[in-house]
Amino acid sequence: MNKKQIIKDTEKFVKEKMAGEGSGHDWWHVYRVWKNAVHIGKKEKADMFIVELGALLHDIADFKFHNGDDTIGAKVSRVWLEKQGVDEEIIKDVCDIVKGVSFKGAGVKSEIKTLEGMVVQDADRLDAIGAIGIARVFAYGGAKGREMYNPVIKVTKHKSFEEYKNADSTSINHFYEKLLLLKNLMNTKTGKKMARGRHKFLEQYLNRFFKEWNGEM
Ligand code: NI
Repeated sequence: MNKKQIIKDTEKFVKEKMAGEGSGHDWWHVYRVWKNAVHIGKKEKADMFIVELGALLHDIADFKFHNGDDTIGAKVSRVWLEKQGVDEEIIKDVCDIVKGVSFKGAGVKSEIKTLEGMVVQDADRLDAIGAIGIARVFAYGGAKGREMYNPVIKVTKHKSFEEYKNADSTSINHFYEKLLLLKNLMNTKTGKKMARGRHKFLEQYLNRFFKEWNGEM
């Protein structure tokens, strides 16, 4: 098993598969998660082969674009990794990461069990906050035809995956329904540290958004 080559080929595979996706879940999201994951994984002394494969494949078939079926990503990953001759134990770990990593609503418990899974989940969550997170939430809202903000539509804490998936909301509400919750959901020490700065930036942004909304600035 040539690990370096497999990572390189997986990068190419994912890049081609996700090209032109415009809603914030494109190749460049995966790229950033991969870089975050490498940074966190090294500090946390995780198995970097599993971390890198998990990060690269984590959104290969995101549930938001497959009518809510959240098992497709793991299936696609397995077929790909078997073709590369990756050991079964590693395939199992990577597929568990791909299956467990996405956010399914504030009240839904995550299924991540391994250190490598925690690293990838932290890396993915970091990309939803800070400056990048703000850009992504509006890009995603636009793709879904959502309003940027509407004071009439109230914030909801989704109790189930079903509720989260089908929710009608605004991009600003999404800050309260997801983005601002992520800081407290970080798994690793390194992830927590990175989340603090990005979280603060979200708060500053919202503060200013509402001031401008009301003509106070
Ligand atoms: Ni992701």
